[in-house]
Amino acid sequence: MTDAPAPDPNDVAPAVAELETIVSLSKRRGFVFPSSEIYGGINAVWDYGPLGVELKNNVKRAWWRAMVQERDDIVGLDAGILMHPQVWRTSGHVAEFSDPMVECETDHKRFRVDELPGAEDLGPAELLDPGIVARLGLRCPVDGGPLSAPRQFNLMLKTYLGPVEEEAAIVYLRPETAQGIYVNFKNVLATSRKKLPFGIAQIGKAFRNEISPGNFVFRMREFEQMEMQYFVRPEAASAIFEEWLPRRRAWYERYGVTPSRLRFREHRPDELAHYAKKAIDVEYRFPFGWKELEGIHNRGDFDLGNHARASGENLQYFDPATEEHFIPWIVETSAGGDRAPFTFLIDAYREEEVRGEKRVSLALHPDLAPYKVAVLPLLKKRPEIVDLCHKIKADLQRHTMAVYDDTAAIGKLYRRQDEIGTPWCVTVDVDSLEDGAVTVRDRDSMAQERIPLEGVTRLILDRLDAARAEAG
Ligand code: GAP
Repeated sequence: MTDAPAPDPNDVAPAVAELETIVSLSKRRGFVFPSSEIYGGINAVWDYGPLGVELKNNVKRAWWRAMVQERDDIVGLDAGILMHPQVWRTSGHVAEFSDPMVECETDHKRFRVDELPGAEDLGPAELLDPGIVARLGLRCPVDGGPLSAPRQFNLMLKTYLGPVEEEAAIVYLRPETAQGIYVNFKNVLATSRKKLPFGIAQIGKAFRNEISPGNFVFRMREFEQMEMQYFVRPEAASAIFEEWLPRRRAWYERYGVTPSRLRFREHRPDELAHYAKKAIDVEYRFPFGWKELEGIHNRGDFDLGNHARASGENLQYFDPATEEHFIPWIVETSAGGDRAPFTFLIDAYREEEVRGEKRVSLALHPDLAPYKVAVLPLLKKRPEIVDLCHKIKADLQRHTMAVYDDTAAIGKLYRRQDEIGTPWCVTVDVDSLEDGAVTVRDRDSMAQERIPLEGVTRLILDRLDAARAEAG
């Protein structure tokens, strides 16, 4: 008898089989719209609608709470998107931040070489090999036309600062938020009086002229990052790097991502970014495969060392205990301000049959849900019921996101709230006018309970607190 092969931990089904399910829900319910849609859209830029902006802000707040608010060793920063152009020469981005690209000779479309069928597993040297297209017989995936030899394509977007469009006025839109932190290291150290190890966190826009953007908000040309740079003694960097791995993975799990759909993947030496000594991605099983959700990097003294040399500033840290001066090493956690909400949205998606009908719900963590509570009238023709609803909703709105809806029958109103992830619905009916009680319905269990209406706000806030404590 032979043993059954051990299950492959990578063989995990995505939460949603087709990406289109999420794209269409996002459009239909107002999470994400194509940018400038009335003009036909602009490739790789997406706009967040009324529900999307709430979800995204909630994700950013949850990250800030875990990374800044609840930690004594990390402080925040909000640096400019535009920086001195020398920053990008010093950081290596002008010389190194590029992808090998080929161009179709008939339709002139450009592709990243590693995204062409048959070239996915090539190493960096092979991706730039002038003979690789002929050797592998690579053709344009759109029209089958012949492809050019690979060449490097810098991913930074440029603009001009000031009124004259000349070479000297070129500035870059930052391709990572991290550099804003490095150039402020001295300022933050002097004003916050932090001792090593300590971190600086920042959330903000970044821009990359991606050759092959796509998969909805997964790879965009304008996107957000949630980055934290942790400054450490050089000899502590390896151990501290290892400590951040489970901590960052656990953050996604606490906010509802299914653990089996997360994994770590270490970069091979030949695929490391120019600044990294070691890099491990937290990957998620998206509907289009296992892909990077967040990167954790040991950047050594690459950044502070280069900035110190190029600027002439002393970016050393003085350790009073050992009386040493040295350039700290950096352990970076770099999460996506779009990929994280996208992941939470995908992983929360549920379809089930309830009494012969399809029920779609988003089992979002209450802290991430756009609306925490909807207040619904059972009979909108009774003004006393509608008035009471508005009173309850107004009281809730002082504390949290609450919404009133009377545009359909109650069953449909519940389904609408389920589909946008609202954890609780409060329903006011005719009896409420007599007994002063309302029904609170839970999104996930669909259980209903009757409670005195004076207790509604307290109950919702207590449940929110309890959910947050579980995630803490
Ligand atoms: N500072 C390090 C850095 O930028 P990265 O792995 O290139 O590292 C970090 O990017 C994270 O930023 C990624 O894990 C992803 O979540 C997000 N990201 C990067 N490029 C993106 C893009 N084109 N669209 C959306 N998110 C992106």
